[in-house]
Amino acid sequence: MLRFDELDSTNAYAKRNCSLIENQTIIVAKTQSAGRGRLSRSWLSEPGGLYFSVVLKPTQITHLANLTQLMALSVCQVLRELGVAAQLKWPNDVLVNDKKICGILSEAVTSENKFDALVLGVGVNIAQTDLSRAGQPAVSLAMLGINYDAEKMLQQILDRFFAQYENVLQNGFSAIRTDYLNYFPYIGKEVIIAHGTTPTRGTVQTISPVGELILNTPAGQTVISIGDMCI
Ligand code: BTN
Repeated sequence: MLRFDELDSTNAYAKRNCSLIENQTIIVAKTQSAGRGRLSRSWLSEPGGLYFSVVLKPTQITHLANLTQLMALSVCQVLRELGVAAQLKWPNDVLVNDKKICGILSEAVTSENKFDALVLGVGVNIAQTDLSRAGQPAVSLAMLGINYDAEKMLQQILDRFFAQYENVLQNGFSAIRTDYLNYFPYIGKEVIIAHGTTPTRGTVQTISPVGELILNTPAGQTVISIGDMCI
């Protein structure tokens, strides 16, 4: 485990130093000066939050996208154990009362067209009391009235994640589909998928055995494998 008081971004650090970092190393920072989110967004990373990246160098590179979903599920399960009504928003956000409590940014590192590593970056809002600058509706454990130790949370998330890691590497999303669907409240709901210039609107039918979102749209059944789900 590599610990820092401050980094620009744990993901950026992992990518810069990837060749020197061992498989399954965890990089943690108390704050980030340039925390990054999905879709080129930034991630507010003030003291009190949990910011870490897991560097994975599996020999087999099938089902990598499902590892991100496993991480979201792991965070969701840890929060549920604390009595928090956490839910999953496909593909890998964790929300409480429709506000974001955790975001995950997964990035592949490649060199000369060869896969080197997957960096799974996780931000969990824990002790922050003001997330008004997060750029989206956000909530922390403290704002829900729960005081919890970030270090303990990190360990619990990692325990859950690595308990299912090999299973997901071997079997993909089907290894966690039942658990994931337990915390996925959007079946039957109308959603919009933002990706590229044309959004797709439809009703959520299910999540497929490989982890894609299946929508019923006016054009028929549509399989979404990438995008941002807007409610
Ligand atoms: C999202 O947009 O929902 C993903 C946010 C991911 C934030 C985490 S914090 C630790 C790691 N380092 C980063 O710069 N980003 C991720």
